[in-house]
Amino acid sequence: MTKSYEVIDHTYDVVVVGAGGAGLRATLGLAEAGLKTACITKVFPTRSHTVAAQGGVSASLGNMGEDDWRWHMYDTVKGSDWLGDQDAIEYMVREAVPAILELEHYGMPFSRTEDGKIYQRPFGGMTTHFGEGIAQRTCAAADRTGHAMLHTLYQQSLRQHAEFYIEYFALDLIMEEGVCRGIMAWNLDDGTIHRFRSQMVIIATGGYGRVYFSCTGAHTQTGDGNAMVLRAGLPLQDMEFVQFHPTGIYGAGCLITEGARGEGGYLTNSEGERFMERYAPSAKDLASRDVVSRAMTMEIREGRGVGAAKDHIHLHLEHLSPELLHQRLPGISESARIFAGVDVTKEPIPVIPTCHYNMGGIPALWSGEVVTDRNGDPNTTVPGLMAIGEAACVSVHGANRLGSNSLLDLVVFGRSAAKRCAEILIPGEKQRPMPVDAGDAALDRFDRLRHADGGTPTAALRDEMQRAMQGHAAVFRTGESLAEGIDKLQATWAKRGDLKVTDRTLIWNSDLVETLELDNLMFQAKVTMESAGNRTESRGAHAREDHPDRDDVNWLKHTLSWCGEDGKVRFGDRPVSLKTLTNEVQAFPPKARVY
Ligand code: FUM
Repeated sequence: MTKSYEVIDHTYDVVVVGAGGAGLRATLGLAEAGLKTACITKVFPTRSHTVAAQGGVSASLGNMGEDDWRWHMYDTVKGSDWLGDQDAIEYMVREAVPAILELEHYGMPFSRTEDGKIYQRPFGGMTTHFGEGIAQRTCAAADRTGHAMLHTLYQQSLRQHAEFYIEYFALDLIMEEGVCRGIMAWNLDDGTIHRFRSQMVIIATGGYGRVYFSCTGAHTQTGDGNAMVLRAGLPLQDMEFVQFHPTGIYGAGCLITEGARGEGGYLTNSEGERFMERYAPSAKDLASRDVVSRAMTMEIREGRGVGAAKDHIHLHLEHLSPELLHQRLPGISESARIFAGVDVTKEPIPVIPTCHYNMGGIPALWSGEVVTDRNGDPNTTVPGLMAIGEAACVSVHGANRLGSNSLLDLVVFGRSAAKRCAEILIPGEKQRPMPVDAGDAALDRFDRLRHADGGTPTAALRDEMQRAMQGHAAVFRTGESLAEGIDKLQATWAKRGDLKVTDRTLIWNSDLVETLELDNLMFQAKVTMESAGNRTESRGAHAREDHPDRDDVNWLKHTLSWCGEDGKVRFGDRPVSLKTLTNEVQAFPPKARVY
């Protein structure tokens, strides 16, 4: 197939796929380390989904009250419902402090306290003294923290002469006997096909929120890297754990930051009741997201939703001063006006739990190295392959991520992957020639989809998949509903062969881009729905009404899932690390939930 397309070859030390917070932080670190680095991205770097991150990035700087990385670690372990790997969590919360100070020195325009320190706000689940008090730990640039972060990292990467391949769509990994040798990509702008050979490929392609009908993520959030990993015969991990953010704007799905509640906002039902006081008497509106989303869903189900259809909830900010709203929450004030027609100084915002984050992804160590199960060892590293950011499952978020730990994960693990590459790779080291058929499988798939001539338009099949996910794998799940969802997705899968692409050109063919993305999404929808059916307990964001309790005897383990071309999903598992990284903190044994 490579013969049917003109293929342009490149050689780099490292190729990073994706230019969100994780991809850019890795790219910057690699370029600083003198490794010849290419960053491939399907959108302009500062348009990556990280740009939409609002509320902030956590780090126990203690600028606005006492703090300690051990408290941050405890909160993250508890928030993960004990599924997070404690050694990786210790690494993340300790490295948070230098990683954020480094960002400050790179020029990130954080909001400031009166005395010039980085401003920090409260966020859900972030406490002091192991759950006793409320921590102000989330470092913010107003409510546009991701925007500030992306611009800082992109500018610094350019300063270090990193090379960018912008609006290149990554097609598939090039694997040779279990080793990743590079990647194939399509240049959307001129239609050329590119084969990148590298000592290391780092996948930083973000989440796959677009498997759902309603989602706070960009339309580009199609988990392209996750799907490439599945097609390479490698597993994904913990795909059943999908986070629903409590405050997506009703009808539009756009995010209203948790920082809004951190600054004093609160939720009410149709009776005007601040119902979170019943569900989480201590943390109330700042309980972790899984708890708040479930509480909102219960209120709606029990007839206490607001609006004509009683199907959403009110978020109040009108009691906050206009000055505070202007200074700390300007972005969401504008979003509420544009997308809900609401003036936040006068009326509440209509909100509903909305798909926001994927805890699952490519199993990886805190060094970024991807692992798989080989000969019964689920911690076998895959040479030449790393994964970072939302695409990865390190797993620091376990069954549920705390707000503001995502931007943190991006910078900490982007940075650690670059450091690891600097340790194990030699800049400019000669690389073996590629196998003769390198890239053929990727181009076969590309060509097949480009010439797809069936009867089902891409948009119709995507709609079918998204509605199955929304209806059967949302906030609450049951075995019966998941089984129905599995059947529906199987029927959708069967229509992959009947897709219709109308545009056969190679230059800015958005019909083909959307089809490639849909194919990627369908692999992930499959493993998400089936992993949810497989896990017969409730933990974190995975709430099974037919198995309401957490079951540490049978399920204190990560799910591994594989999906073949035939759509068959198979499972394995990986132990949860209950060990710490150093002896400066004790591991936290699983405890019953108290909110
Ligand atoms: O609510 C927010 O600002 C989102 C933050 C996050 O997901 O970490």
